[in-house]
Amino acid sequence: MTTDIPAIPSIDFDHHSEHYARHWREINEQNRAACPVAHTDAHGGFWVLSSYEDIATVAKDDAAFSSYQELDDGTHTGATIPAGPIRQVPIEMDPPEFTAYRRLLNRSFAPAVIAEWEDYIRSATTYCIDQVIDSGTCDLVADVLNPVPAITTLSVLGLPTEDWRSFSDTIHEMVHTPPDPDGNFAADDAAQRLMELFVTVTETISARRQNPTDDLISTLVHAEIDGEPMSDQRLLEIISLVIFGGVDTTGSLLSSVLRWLEANPHERERLAADPGLIPQATEEFLRFFSPVQGLARTATHDCVIGDQQIRKGERLFLSWASANFDPALFPDADQVELDRFPNRHQSFGIGVHRCLGSNLARLEFRVVLEEILRRMPDFHISDDAEPFRSIGVVNGWVNLPTTFTAGVREGSDVGGNPALTL
Ligand code: HEM
Repeated sequence: MTTDIPAIPSIDFDHHSEHYARHWREINEQNRAACPVAHTDAHGGFWVLSSYEDIATVAKDDAAFSSYQELDDGTHTGATIPAGPIRQVPIEMDPPEFTAYRRLLNRSFAPAVIAEWEDYIRSATTYCIDQVIDSGTCDLVADVLNPVPAITTLSVLGLPTEDWRSFSDTIHEMVHTPPDPDGNFAADDAAQRLMELFVTVTETISARRQNPTDDLISTLVHAEIDGEPMSDQRLLEIISLVIFGGVDTTGSLLSSVLRWLEANPHERERLAADPGLIPQATEEFLRFFSPVQGLARTATHDCVIGDQQIRKGERLFLSWASANFDPALFPDADQVELDRFPNRHQSFGIGVHRCLGSNLARLEFRVVLEEILRRMPDFHISDDAEPFRSIGVVNGWVNLPTTFTAGVREGSDVGGNPALTL
């Protein structure tokens, strides 16, 4: 007697490939329609989940689907496929251990605390635009979109803001370059620069142990988890996550949006005339461009998703980008509707790991967009602008060479930091 074993639906899917970067909406649409739970052999093999409901179910079940598993060979699975160079906490940690870390961090990223940063972010944006405004030409990515979130993230943490370009350039390069065949996210020189940046972080940890100030690193070094202070290694795992989360995500979203506004002048005029529409439009841009395309979990036991048998230890890629176009939730999903409502996109994830920095991201996005629309309303982005080659970590543009009608400097002290150089 033979038993029919259903064939595993196998797809040729690699979220880091250039093909995916150029065709992600069509690829995800095909997956949703033909095989919403499918297996790919890329990066050692993993399942790709494409329907909104399946992704929500897995992301909310952190007992069955772990964010970090140590493997017998000494390696580990994590929140990305392939796993990153160092563990990131708390995104690569499960409850109950996770909960105390997230509670501690939540205080510094609460809506009321983040709202206090608006003047600083506007001041940093003014400073960056001032450097280029009288020339009528710039690279919006290098001159405004990368610096503002980088300066703000370093400032929230308490790292030296004059180092912003080393942090920003290194992370920008890492996120848009595909991982090498061994799964390394950084070329040797970028990896070396990253290690040097971690030295700055470690030095700041030591300095704040001696002399605490009012920044996030001071809060972390003097906090206790289960009655114990954290080790330097654990602090580095947290701080590096805030850096990676904060430095290239919001700027990448802004780069996609400015490129889209260039191609849709009526919508650009509409936003410039009515900046009050920006918060609602932000949600639609988050959905439509899905700056973080997807993240990973590992099954902690055998289970069934859709009609597929998933085995303990197998990895799953939760495609927020596909969920965001699921027609069950989003009518006319391929259209940008600036006032779309409801808009329950998954761009910040869903479940306990939902983005810690979502309030900060929304604030930075609004302030930078308001200032660009106000001071460079006729910006024209060159056709030479380069999109990321890999969008497996973050989706955006490498550069945006731009011209605009020159204007005048407005002056800014960037929160009183004269050491900031661009
Ligand atoms: C448009 C900008 C951003 C997007 C699209 C984004 C997206 C995400 C996503 C999808 C997750 C993971 C959710 C999950 O696995 O369930 C996440 C987690 C996280 N994000 Fe963001 N993020 C953005 C900006 C930021 C900023 C500005 C910061 C900090 C300065 C930040 C810090 C974090 C941290 C620390 C986590 C881990 C939270 C946890 O595990 O509890 N993100 N983000």
